[in-house]
Amino acid sequence: MIKFILNEKEVQYTGHPGVVVLDYVRYLKNLTGTKIGCREGDCGACTVLVGEIIEDKMRYRSMTSCLMPLANANGKHIVTIEGVNMDILNPVQQAMSDEGATQCGFCTPGFVMSLAGFCLRDDVVDYHKEALAAIDGNICRCTGYKSIQRAVSKIAEICSKRADEDVVKFVAKNKILPAYFENIKDKLAMIQPTANRTNDISKPEYFVSGGTDLYVQKHDVMPHSELSFLMNKNELQGITEENGICIIGASSTVTDLIESPIIRKAFPNFETYYKLVSSTPIRNMATIAGNLVNASPIGDFTAFFLALDASIELSDNVSTRIIRLKDFYLGYKKLNKKPNEFLKSLSVKLPSQKSRFNFEKVCKRTNLDIASVNSAMLMELDGSSILNANISAGGVGPTPLFLKKSSEYLAGKKVSLDVIEELLRIAQTEIAPISDARGTEEYKRLLLNQLIKGHFAVWYPEMINAEFLTM
Ligand code: FES
Ligand code: FES
Repeated sequence: MIKFILNEKEVQYTGHPGVVVLDYVRYLKNLTGTKIGCREGDCGACTVLVGEIIEDKMRYRSMTSCLMPLANANGKHIVTIEGVNMDILNPVQQAMSDEGATQCGFCTPGFVMSLAGFCLRDDVVDYHKEALAAIDGNICRCTGYKSIQRAVSKIAEICSKRADEDVVKFVAKNKILPAYFENIKDKLAMIQPTANRTNDISKPEYFVSGGTDLYVQKHDVMPHSELSFLMNKNELQGITEENGICIIGASSTVTDLIESPIIRKAFPNFETYYKLVSSTPIRNMATIAGNLVNASPIGDFTAFFLALDASIELSDNVSTRIIRLKDFYLGYKKLNKKPNEFLKSLSVKLPSQKSRFNFEKVCKRTNLDIASVNSAMLMELDGSSILNANISAGGVGPTPLFLKKSSEYLAGKKVSLDVIEELLRIAQTEIAPISDARGTEEYKRLLLNQLIKGHFAVWYPEMINAEFLTM
């Protein structure tokens, strides 16, 4: 049985745990304010808030209910647009109305929910910037966005008035959200699962984590399949560090990485990288393990962790084995993994003071798009000499690639334009891109060249001039 709080009320569900929250709220609970747009996580019309108790506090994140299985709602607080309604419009709704930020209204519940989620955040530094970022997963086809931006500014202004007060108390006291939010933590504590009952299947047809890829690819199949859910397993969570080695639980989401002090310290430019990857609600759901197991040749975090020469721990619930991530990909969507194995954790040696790391990605638009080609690179230096290097490349072969020969070539070299030119030549011998919707073979070869130059341009801006970049 799955138990959670839906808006103000506790609910129990005994049907298939793979049914998505969107269908449950609309068709079983008749809460039709949550809209169906793309069913692929792109439009944000179906956005809900998901609250859970973390370190004795409520933490809310926006998620796209079209990709969220009910199993992942177990023990949580699910808030739909109906759950933020009050007797009068709440300040988010009022701002949207006052600024003309709603026309046909189809996208509006999604925007309101994303902004309600922003109002519940207690870690905001720059209110205006982050309020705008909170709606990066919402698309509107009517307003032209300027009016929405004005409404967002008003919300940012209201939220910035909170000093040290508990955020849930603040939103309830100031009638930003209904007063019942204050009681949710106690109610939720009563229904916390002792074990994730939905994980009992030993040979599932699919292991499900965040669901953000599986539910796009196999939306119709999932509610009828034998599923094993990994998201709520405690042993698959957490990001820890010991002696420079970071262990990332397989159910860690992209947002968990973003919020991890360990990751932020080790990758000072992490914000630049993650802004290139999907949108806020998807980052709130999508797990690192999912990105790796999905085996997409252009998985962004696959490229990221390949360049860090990460290892992965696979488990079949009886025994575990550890392999290098670069040995995980055998062919197009073919993995070095048995059907009953799931990814348990990822271990990464964090870049040292002597190292340089960079991630680059090119897509048809800057944000919220799938890469045409991506690449990450790690270089460990001793003064001006390269001790060793790891280069990854996505979108230029049937699997995400670790560029072995290119990486080996750099060991012992000093960085110079000649060395980079030879590196580019070698890299071209290691890839086999094909022409498809994301570009021709020739274009992708050119992109990889540019991305590798891009790594060096970030590290050696004085050396990599415009002439070199365009030759
Ligand atoms: Fe478009 Fe869910 S329906 S993101
Ligand atoms: Fe029509 Fe946004 S108001 S899609």
